[in-house]
Amino acid sequence: MKVVGLMSGTSGDGVDAALVEIGRRKSGLPIKMIAFHPLPYPRSLQQRILSASVSGTVSELCHLNALLGEWFANAALAVIRVANLLPKDIALIGSHGQTVHHLPHGIKDAGVGSIRSTFQIAEPAVIAERTGITTVADFRPRDMAAGGQGAPLTPAVHALLFRHPRRARLIVNLGGISNITYLPKGSGFDDLIAFDTGPANMVLDGLMARSTGGRMSMDREGRMAARGQVDGRLLAKLLAHSYLSKAPPKSTGREVFGAKMLDELFAMQQAKQLPIENLLATCSRWTAEAVGTARRWVRGGIDEVIVGGGGVRNRAIMKHLTDVFAPVPVSPVESYGWDSKALEAVAFAVLAYQTATEQFGNVPSVTGAAHPSLLGCIVPNGPGWMERLRPHPRRK
Ligand SMILES: Nc1ncnc2c1ncn2[C@@H]1O[C@H](COP(=O)(O)OP(=O)(O)O)[C@@H](O)[C@H]1O
Ligand SMILES: [Mg+2]
Repeated sequence: MKVVGLMSGTSGDGVDAALVEIGRRKSGLPIKMIAFHPLPYPRSLQQRILSASVSGTVSELCHLNALLGEWFANAALAVIRVANLLPKDIALIGSHGQTVHHLPHGIKDAGVGSIRSTFQIAEPAVIAERTGITTVADFRPRDMAAGGQGAPLTPAVHALLFRHPRRARLIVNLGGISNITYLPKGSGFDDLIAFDTGPANMVLDGLMARSTGGRMSMDREGRMAARGQVDGRLLAKLLAHSYLSKAPPKSTGREVFGAKMLDELFAMQQAKQLPIENLLATCSRWTAEAVGTARRWVRGGIDEVIVGGGGVRNRAIMKHLTDVFAPVPVSPVESYGWDSKALEAVAFAVLAYQTATEQFGNVPSVTGAAHPSLLGCIVPNGPGWMERLRPHPRRK
């Protein structure tokens, strides 16, 4: 079955589209990526999304939801073209959408107890309408309704792609936020450990954008950080951030490591008269050390660290990760035949497949949900949509 996965993470840098072929086998799930196409947002749209995530009006969010639906649909159509295929060849789309808010810790509300919530936009009805393909979206809320954090959802897919009978692997995703999945040797789904470790590109992108008055949106290749020195005192302070010592299940986002964090960082920079290069170097190290906290909750050793996400291109973070985990080898997912930019999009193709074939997508031991769930909302494409998924009947 051919499935398109669409993802835009907390960096808000654009839609990543992956077209994958999911095969049939009695055990395991052969997954092959056929094509990948990133569709970057223009800088102005990225800024609009980031500010709507903090203080968007209802009308702005309403509009952005439909607008991003068009962007996601275009990303899907583009990856299908890149693969030399037609929309009729595609059984399903899985769309993560664009997170604009994530409140995984219960907020007490009168009469109903503790409410957890998360908010992804990019209207799936628009995606289904433009592509003519049945679309599964809104994967996180069901896990949350079942008492989970709604995140991370990629661990089940990491397990399918990377588990190894004799090697314990730590899969790291360096997105806006970083997250890890620990796969013990020969692991099944019940013994996975996975959570958001904390800050990554979100902080670095924010430092670059603010310090250049919006001219630069990222520390390309980590070049600025490479010119700076890590400030030991500031690093120690950042490492004392309460999120880092919290036990999993845990997930986080722009609410914790976004604008407020930038205000604090720039205040500390001023107080210490630090060059921006040193601030970037320190935050790059902070990212790597936060990923290193994973070892506190991992039972058993780690034989290899495998890194994906846009942050793989940041040499400063990669160098610090190598330091932090030495002598355990740290390599990009490219060394294992995958594209670091594409992995999360692949994951949402697989999660859509799980839902369409009536298989659970969340891992309760990871998210803290009370039970496994079929995730997502399905926007069917016209009569006969179920029939079209039939070549892949329910798997036991
Ligand atoms: N060439 C590069 N050099 C340094 N950082 C990069 C490069 N390319 C991408 N990135 C970083 O990766 C981020 C996007 O990574 P991504 O995995 O898409 O994150 P998210 O899932 O949060 O959208 C960008 O915001 C940027 O910080
Ligand atoms: Mg992205």
